[in-house]
Amino acid sequence: MVAARITVNGKETPISPAAPHTTVLDFLRERGLTGTKEGCAEGECGACSVLVARPGVNKPTDWVAVNACLVPAAALDGQEIITSEGLATVGESGAPATLHPVQEEMAVRGGSQCGYCTPGFICSMAAEYYRPDRCAHADSGSDSDSGSDDSTDHEHGPNGFDLHALSGNLCRCTGYRPIRDAAYAVGEPTDEDPLAQRREQSPPAPVATEYTQDGATFLRKDTLAETLQLLRERPDAVVVAGSTDYGVEVNIRSRRAECVVAIDRLPELRELRVEADHIEIGAAVTLTEIERRLDGDVPLLAELFPQFASRLIRNSGTLGGNLGTGSPIGDSPPVLLALEASLVLADADGERVVPLAEYFTGYRQSVRRPDELIRAVRIPLPLSPVVAFHKIAKRRFDDISSVAIAFALDIEGGIVRKARIGLGGVAATPIRALATEAALEGKPWSAETVEAAARVLRGEGTPMSDHRASAIYRSAMLGQSLLKLHAQTTEAVSS
Ligand SMILES: Cc1cc2nc3c(=O)[nH]c(=O)nc-3n(C[C@H](O)[C@H](O)[C@H](O)COP(=O)(O)OP(=O)(O)OC[C@H]3O[C@@H](n4cnc5c(N)ncnc54)[C@H](O)[C@@H]3O)c2cc1C
Ligand code: FES
Ligand code: FES
Repeated sequence: MVAARITVNGKETPISPAAPHTTVLDFLRERGLTGTKEGCAEGECGACSVLVARPGVNKPTDWVAVNACLVPAAALDGQEIITSEGLATVGESGAPATLHPVQEEMAVRGGSQCGYCTPGFICSMAAEYYRPDRCAHADSGSDSDSGSDDSTDHEHGPNGFDLHALSGNLCRCTGYRPIRDAAYAVGEPTDEDPLAQRREQSPPAPVATEYTQDGATFLRKDTLAETLQLLRERPDAVVVAGSTDYGVEVNIRSRRAECVVAIDRLPELRELRVEADHIEIGAAVTLTEIERRLDGDVPLLAELFPQFASRLIRNSGTLGGNLGTGSPIGDSPPVLLALEASLVLADADGERVVPLAEYFTGYRQSVRRPDELIRAVRIPLPLSPVVAFHKIAKRRFDDISSVAIAFALDIEGGIVRKARIGLGGVAATPIRALATEAALEGKPWSAETVEAAARVLRGEGTPMSDHRASAIYRSAMLGQSLLKLHAQTTEAVSS
């Protein structure tokens, strides 16, 4: 086996002597690449953002920005990354570097004051700069001076720049206006741009990894069958996919596992198929990939994604990880409960399909055994047409839910034929609002029915008071959520 290494800014760099839990952030900084900064070490600030060459959605390779503070360096064995230092073109000895177009725009538009957040913003901005389907609006061009006046909405620039690309980056001193101006002013990559050219070739294939240091091992197998056999032999092994939960455990709670097994690149967990009667989403397809590949085909998921963490987190995080963590305030379970999803669980002997409604058994507990993996999530078709996902949180983006409510309703001729409602944040596990579903089904979709059902919904679960919200507030939000859905849909349903 070739020694574990990462291609950093075009140069092969051995991972040794980093420990298996060492993050990409520490790995880079220990090698002098100190442009990549640590702000929080828990995925909240984006100061550590770097670009990774990943399988593309519209081109063979996408440059994807990720939080280097969460990903173990060993997880990128054989992969290619670009840091803020690698974006500028360094001249011959002594000659000044030529700034990358996003660096140039940030500099000339005053997007950087203390500069601590700047390399992270630059990498997130560069990922959006290279996004193949970003396109300038025909009538505005990408050379606008301030950029902001020509935009078609307040979250997209005239150059097609999606401001959500920066939702995981925080700046404490510049103020976001000049940063937005810089983002909205970048043009298109030229044909000679090496990173634009790189998109036309395949990204590095995943490589089998067995990286041991100081008694701890990071393992990546080629196939699902080998991985499942390994999990049977090593019940103590810790499985990681995108590492957005695991990385926080390592950094903040000092988790040190003897054996970590990566599953994020297993081909069997990376398929997304639309069949006649269901959609199957591989557990290790990232949230960003699902969002782009489904492109709105599952409207309830399309409502979920923009409210789930930040673009940086969604670029690594997976549905398998969200369900594997089993948090009662995870955002995908309420949505998947409303969609009546099932999980395909695989072990070394075969597979079983478990309805998500029967998966969680207690606080962060499930029916999944340690030697089993979630291989895929199955969403039955056809989909209910009236859907909504209401996430009640303190901030609109990049925040954890106090309460999350997902609705999927069939309403025909003004009558609720079927109601499925998933709830998060009101019990030890995500739950279905069964009493409310019963209170709606067979009834007219009228203000009277909805007010009565909202009273039932307020009583679902056993909400607690904590630092995010009081139990009374959580209950009140459940009821409000149904009233809001009714107000939003009445016109659409009656027309
Ligand atoms: C800053 C920040 C913001 C966040 N915001 C949100 C948010 O808004 N909403 C939300 O719901 N979550 C949020 N999260 C949590 C996290 O991003 C999600 O839970 C994400 O989906 C985890 O996916 P992952 O692939 O990174 O999981 P990992 O960290 O790789 O794994 C998480 C757990 O799941 C297990 N696991 C992973 N894949 C599988 C599988 N296929 N089968 C069985 N077990 C598996 C792992 O063993 C581990 O125990 C946030 C996290 C951070 C750091
Ligand atoms: S250091 Fe804050 S997100 Fe990584
Ligand atoms: S420039 Fe100081 S934190 Fe952003």
